[in-house]
Amino acid sequence: MEAVQISRYGGPEVLEVNDIDPPVPGDNQVLVKVNFAGLNPFDSKLRSGLFKKMIPLHFPHTLGGDFAGIVKKTGKKVLGFTVGDGVYGTANILSGGSGSLAQYLIAQSDKIAKKPSSLDFAESAAVVLTGVSALRAIEEHISLKAGQKILIHGGAGGIGHIAVQLAKAKNAFVAVTVNKFDMEFIKKLGADKIIDYKIKKFEEILKDFDAVFDTVGKDIADRSFPVLKKGGVLVSMVVQPDGKLAKKYGIKTYRQQTAVNSRQLNRLTEILNSGKIKVNVDRIFSIDKIGQAYKYMEEGHQKGKVVVNIR
Ligand SMILES: NC(=O)c1ccc[n+]([C@@H]2O[C@H](COP(=O)([O-])OP(=O)(O)OC[C@H]3O[C@@H](n4cnc5c(N)ncnc54)[C@H](OP(=O)(O)O)[C@@H]3O)[C@@H](O)[C@H]2O)c1
Repeated sequence: MEAVQISRYGGPEVLEVNDIDPPVPGDNQVLVKVNFAGLNPFDSKLRSGLFKKMIPLHFPHTLGGDFAGIVKKTGKKVLGFTVGDGVYGTANILSGGSGSLAQYLIAQSDKIAKKPSSLDFAESAAVVLTGVSALRAIEEHISLKAGQKILIHGGAGGIGHIAVQLAKAKNAFVAVTVNKFDMEFIKKLGADKIIDYKIKKFEEILKDFDAVFDTVGKDIADRSFPVLKKGGVLVSMVVQPDGKLAKKYGIKTYRQQTAVNSRQLNRLTEILNSGKIKVNVDRIFSIDKIGQAYKYMEEGHQKGKVVVNIR
C-alpha cells in the first residue's frame, strides 16, 4: 500500500510516498481502509523534529492522525465496530495508531467512533482533532452558557471555525479575531463581533467577557486577561497562560492538551448530526501532492481544514 513517510526530520521536502505492507491489527485495534486524512499543525511540528525529545520517531515513520474510512478487520477484543462500518478518529503516534496518511491504518478501538451520518468522509476526517478540541474547551473547560460572552482567537482556523459555531449553538455572544480575508467566512458562521487582528487590538475593544479561547499562541493568551471579568476562564491550545496574571485578574486558566477518544467523538457526532455545525473543507489534495498539501496548510491561510484524498 502507499504511505506518506519520513526517514528524517525536516520540512515538506523530507516527505516520501512509499510502498509498504499494510499493518496488522492487535486485539484492541481495527484495520481501516482510509478514504480521507485530515492534516493538522501537530503533524508538521512532529515532522520538523520539534517534539523529537518528547516523542522520538522510529524511521521510516508514517505520518498523519485524523482520518475517516471503512473498517476492514477488527481485533479479537474489539466491541461496537464491525467490518464495513464507516468510522472516524485518530491514528497518530500518541494514540497508538499506525498513521493516517496511508491506504490502510490501524487504530485503537477506543480512539474512533462511527462517522457522523450528516457529514461525508472528507468532512469527517477534517473534524476529528479540531472538533474534539473545540468541544473540550467549550463544554468541559469553559462550560459555556447561553448569554455568556466568549472571545475566540483564530476563529477561521481548523479549531476556531468549529468553536465559533459551537458557541453560537449554545446561544453565547461570540467575538472573534481573524484577518481581513476571513471576515466574510466568519460572518457566515454567525460571529457577533469580528476584529481584524492585523489592524486592531482586541484588548482595547472588548471587556467583561466570560471566556477566551486561544487557538493562536504567542502573546495572545496573556494579552487576553484584561478582556475577562473576574472568575472568567481562559483556555489556550498553544501556551500556558501566565500564572501571575491569572491570579491578579482572578481567572481560571487551562493549557489544553487534546487526546481524542471515543467518548468525545461520540459527543461530537451527536452535535454534528444535529446539523448546527458545518465543517469547512478548504482544499482537498491527492496523496501524490502531499508536499503541496503541507505547504498550503503551513502557510496558514486556509479557512477551516486541509484534507488529503487517500482513495
Ligand atoms: N494542545 C493540543 O492538544 C492541540 C491540539 C490541536 C491543535 N493544537 C494547536 O492549536 C493551534 C491551532 O490549531 P488549528 O488546527 O486550529 O490551526 P489553524 O487551522 O492554522 O488555525 C489557526 C488560525 O489562527 C489565525 N491566526 C494567526 N495569527 C493570528 C492572530 N495573531 N490573531 C488571530 N488569529 C490568528 C490563522 O489565520 P491567518 O494566519 O490566516 O491569519 C488561522 O486561521 C496550532 O498551534 C496547533 O498546533 C494544539
